[in-house]
Amino acid sequence: MKRGDILPPDRYREDFAPLRVDNPVCYLDNACTTMRPDSVVNAVSSYYNETPACGGRSPHRWGYAVTLMEAQARKSVANFLSAEKDEVIFTLNSTTGINQVAQGIQWQPGDIVLSSDKEHNSNLVPWLQLQGKGLIEHRQVDSNSDNTFDLEAFEDACSQAAGNLRLVAIPYTSNLDGVTNPVKEITKIAHDFGAEILLDSAQAAPHIKLDVKDIDCDYMTFSIHKMLGPSGVGVLYGKEESLGNLESIRTGGKTVSKMTTDSYDFVSGPSRFEGGSSNYAGIAGAKAAIEYLSRIDKSWLAEHEVRLNKIITDGVKDLDQIKILGPEDPSLRGGVTAMSVDGIDVHDLAIILDEAGSIMVRSGFHCVNSWFDAKKISGGSLRTSAYLYNNEDEAHQFVEVFGEALDALTNS
Ligand code: ALA
Repeated sequence: MKRGDILPPDRYREDFAPLRVDNPVCYLDNACTTMRPDSVVNAVSSYYNETPACGGRSPHRWGYAVTLMEAQARKSVANFLSAEKDEVIFTLNSTTGINQVAQGIQWQPGDIVLSSDKEHNSNLVPWLQLQGKGLIEHRQVDSNSDNTFDLEAFEDACSQAAGNLRLVAIPYTSNLDGVTNPVKEITKIAHDFGAEILLDSAQAAPHIKLDVKDIDCDYMTFSIHKMLGPSGVGVLYGKEESLGNLESIRTGGKTVSKMTTDSYDFVSGPSRFEGGSSNYAGIAGAKAAIEYLSRIDKSWLAEHEVRLNKIITDGVKDLDQIKILGPEDPSLRGGVTAMSVDGIDVHDLAIILDEAGSIMVRSGFHCVNSWFDAKKISGGSLRTSAYLYNNEDEAHQFVEVFGEALDALTNS
C-alpha cells in the first residue's frame, strides 16, 4: 500500500486478526480503544523475540538496535505531527501527558487555567487538584446549546481572565460526542491573551491530519492505543521553549548528564521527561502504528466515518427514547454517535447488543462525568464509534439489533 492509497474498509479488515475469523464481532468502541493490525503486533513481538534489551544504555547489538528503534519511532511521531523530534516525549498515555504539564508548569499566584464544559476526567482532575492546593484557579467555558464550541463565549472568558490566563486546556475532538473544536482559532485567541494552550488530542490523532506548527499549539497529548497501537504508550508534544520551562515529573536514570552525591545536571531534550527504562515493545508498536496510520488517506477516513455515522444516526434519531448528544448532523460528529436513552439502562442495552448481535459499544459516562452531572443525565449514554475497518453492513447491523434490543427492554 502506498501513502495516500484509498482502499475500501474490507481491505483494511484483512490486516486485523480479530476480524479474520468466522463471524467476527462488530466492534464499534473505537473511541475507547482500537484493534491493532498485524504490523503492530509483529513489531511488539519482534522486540521481545529478537532484541529484548534496554535502549540508550548498553552498547551491545541488541541495545544499539533498541536505541535506534526508539530514535526512529520519535522521528516517525514527529513527522506525523509536523514537529521536531526533540519536541516529542513518550509517555504512558494522554493522561500522563496532561499530568506532566499540570505538575511541570511553575505556577504563579493568580494563574488561571481555562477548559471547556465537556472535559474528560483526565483534563479536569489535574486542574482541580492544582486548584485544591491553591496553585491555580480553574474555569470552564460553556458550549453552544448543540454542544459545539462557543468561540464567542471562549473569547469572553479569556477576556475576563486577562492578565492571569496562564493556560487553556481543551480537547481537539470530544470523546463525549465526537465534536471537533476549532483549535486553530482557539489557539490564536489563547495566545492573544498571553496564555499557552494544551490540546488533548486523544480523539483527534486517530482520525485527523495533525499539524502542530499550523495550529501553533504549545502542548498536545494523545494515546497510541486509540490509534492502532499498543496500550501503555502516549505522546506529549511540547514546543521547545515550553518544554524548556517545564519541570519533569519523571526524573532519574536517563535524565541526567552529570551526577554527584549531592548535585545533578539534567540532559536537554525529551530524555529529561522519560526517566527510567521505557516501554520499548510499546514504542516499537507505536512506530508501526504511526507508519500504518500515515498511509491512510485522512479525507477518505473522515468521509468513511461520517458515512457510517449517518447510517447509525438516521436509524436511531427518530426513536422515541433516544436523544443524540451533540449536533444531530453526523458530519459534525465524525464517527461518533452518543445517545441518552430514556427509561432504559444503557449498560443493559450494551450487554444485549453484545450477547444478541456481537456488537460492542461503550455505555455510561465515558469519563466525562462532570458534563452528565451538570446536564442531570443520570444514566449516561450509549456510544458507537466507527473506525477505518468498520463497514456499512456493520452500521446497518447496529441499527437493526439496537431497535430490537430497545423493543425488548421497553416491553419487558
Ligand atoms: N476516553 C476513552 C473513551 O472515551 C476511554 O472511551
